[in-house]
Amino acid sequence: MSLTSFPAGGPSAGLAPAANPFTKVTVPALAEMKRLGKRICALTAYDYATSRLVDEAGVDLILVGDSLAMVVLGHENTLAVTVDEMLHHTRAVRRAVKRALVVADMPFGSYHGSLAEGVANAVRFVKEAGAEAVKIEGPRVELVRALTDAQIPVIGHLGLTPQSVHQMGGYRVQGRTAEAVAMLKEQAQALAEAGAGAVVLEGVPRETAAAITAELAVPTIGIGAGPDCDGQILVLHDMLSMTFAPAARFVRRYADVGGVIRAAVEQYRDDVEHRAFPNDEESYHLPKAAKRELEAVKRDLQAGDRQRLVRPA
Ligand code: KIV
Repeated sequence: MSLTSFPAGGPSAGLAPAANPFTKVTVPALAEMKRLGKRICALTAYDYATSRLVDEAGVDLILVGDSLAMVVLGHENTLAVTVDEMLHHTRAVRRAVKRALVVADMPFGSYHGSLAEGVANAVRFVKEAGAEAVKIEGPRVELVRALTDAQIPVIGHLGLTPQSVHQMGGYRVQGRTAEAVAMLKEQAQALAEAGAGAVVLEGVPRETAAAITAELAVPTIGIGAGPDCDGQILVLHDMLSMTFAPAARFVRRYADVGGVIRAAVEQYRDDVEHRAFPNDEESYHLPKAAKRELEAVKRDLQAGDRQRLVRPA
């Protein structure tokens, strides 16, 4: 049986995920996509409506990224978001998504203590929010092994790891020397051997990502890592222009949704101010009989008023 088919089979069982809208994407399917040379298309999403649209558009993997701390909650970096907040958003995404693999990002602090604590928090994402895999940042090989032993699929994240912003001294491109490339390769290899189903490579030179991708058995998913990774991921709000800072070099703006929202809301405000919204067709109306009754009552009241004016008490 193909790794990408529904257990029950079905009319579309056996086709690769991207060619088959009915096939649920799983972590093993990602490896199969790498083997078939099929690009993995991933995006972040954080709520029901956008996840549903992203899923229906055929994206293979939806990451409930801790980037939501910045693009949804308005924090300065990703460090503040909590497990409970991430669970809340993961549940909403889970309710929307039928086909894509739903991956929950473990937030800063939720896996930085003991292995047991990391596993316990990951279990919450699977059990309480329906995540199908979790993502952790950094070369945490022992934790990847422990999660794999606990039957929790895990995706690694190397290179520019935003949760290490203070340690890195800012958001800096990583893996820029031969030594750093060798280290990243070793780390990616160790994560894969420990059971990681894929590795996100963020903010590394194209050549670094290509070298890692060529040697790794599991797929790499790049963001700011050039075109040679097995897949690509972007932050949804970046690619839709729903952010408020200049975009990084690697972001392609596919639509100006921010501009569309702004223009629509300005038009609405204008219509409300000028009584152009709502119009009669956008209003509910009384049934004819009730309307006649209301008019009769109004006529009686007016007649009463006239009589009082003619014969004051
Ligand atoms: O949180 C996030 O959006 C991420 C992606 C940048 C990979 O980790």
